[in-house]
Amino acid sequence: MKEDVLHIGGVSAPALAQHFGTPLIVYDEDALRKRLTEYLDAFRAPGLETRVVYAGKAFLCGAMAKLVANAGASLDVVSGGELACALNAGFPAARIVFHGNNKTPDELRAAVEAGVGAVVVDNLPECEALAAIAAEKKRAMRVLLRVNPGVEAHTHKYIITAHPDSKFGVSVSRPEELYAVLGAMQAAEFLYFDGFHAHIGSQIFDKAAFAAEAAALAALAEDAQKRGFAPRVFDLGGGFAAWYTDEDAPIPVAEACETILAACKAEKEKRGLALEEVWIEPGRSIAGEAGTTLYTVGWQKDTEHRHYVFVDGGMADNIRPALYEAKYSCDAAEKMNEPKTVKTTVAGKCGESGDIVIDSVMLPPVEAGDLLAVYTTGAYCYSMASNYNHLGRPAVVFAGGGKARQVLRRETPRDLLALEVEEEAVECD
Ligand code: LLP
Repeated sequence: MKEDVLHIGGVSAPALAQHFGTPLIVYDEDALRKRLTEYLDAFRAPGLETRVVYAGKAFLCGAMAKLVANAGASLDVVSGGELACALNAGFPAARIVFHGNNKTPDELRAAVEAGVGAVVVDNLPECEALAAIAAEKKRAMRVLLRVNPGVEAHTHKYIITAHPDSKFGVSVSRPEELYAVLGAMQAAEFLYFDGFHAHIGSQIFDKAAFAAEAAALAALAEDAQKRGFAPRVFDLGGGFAAWYTDEDAPIPVAEACETILAACKAEKEKRGLALEEVWIEPGRSIAGEAGTTLYTVGWQKDTEHRHYVFVDGGMADNIRPALYEAKYSCDAAEKMNEPKTVKTTVAGKCGESGDIVIDSVMLPPVEAGDLLAVYTTGAYCYSMASNYNHLGRPAVVFAGGGKARQVLRRETPRDLLALEVEEEAVECD
């Protein structure tokens, strides 16, 4: 029989809550490392160089950047802020890949100055701006072109990125535009065209989608090669699903990796491609399941249709249910063995009816002060957290080997008030 009290990284949930307060996001540090290592071990194939690039947008802080660096993976950043976080943590710049559809000139400058390993260029004007900055700094930059391969992954409609009208990248259905960017890259003295990048969606369960993506990139590469732009890198992005509820059956890491590498190898041989390296960018499937949010139960309420259990967080620390109708699983963290007899709606404390953490879940009877553990909150929860209702963002701890360390402290009203200024009005022109 499992223990009555939930433990994460060998530390009991009540001890974590007592020490650090709630809401609290707890990462099982070993689970993070294990998943990274699983990817690094599985994503290898003879005859191809490979890179596992953790997508920092899923969750990033200094401690996470260090953990990723020590595991030997690379890091994808999408803003000057993420770049600064990574560099501040000592993440090797050469292993940073810089993404985004609207990187500002300042962000491009920061990337060039830091000497990031690759910039993924999204569009022609960005390419021209980067070329000018690299020339001004006399720094050679490796660039990938983000393309929209037109492959739609089977995922939630709000987060599909590969439809023809996507704001990301240049569509393969617009070859003139695509070759104009490649031409600009080739003409730029300090830019080196390295290859193509695509990202076909998130929370993908179907490995055929990745094989289709590889095939689409390969078809494009064959054509590009004929025109004198031979890509040596394919970066297939992220999108590997995580488990949230028992309805989810994510593709096992080894299978996903094998599918991609086998497809790339087969395409390389079939089409005689110059392809040398394949990269992937998992975010959710590395950070998601390793994270658990602990909430303290407050008041409860019955309506005609529901039994509400209110918790001390909600949409400010996890916007995903409200934004994507995302589903989660949870347990009463000190009553793990009690029969789950109460159909419960777990709701947050924000002033909005959509602030539901879990619409319907069976729980044992709980009372004020009990702890609820919501699973798989490691990806896109803290990173999308807000201060809605002037709530401070939760603390984040890494737990492992029976100990826990805070890696992000809780935000307090004082932190929020620290932004307020009462300046004299100035002439702005
Ligand atoms: N690479 C690129 C270029 C991306 O845009 C993304 C995610 C990833 C990698 C990582 O994807 P993952 O392996 O984590 O699925 N906020 C949404 C997810 C948006 C994902 C955006 N791009 C959510 O909470 O579900």
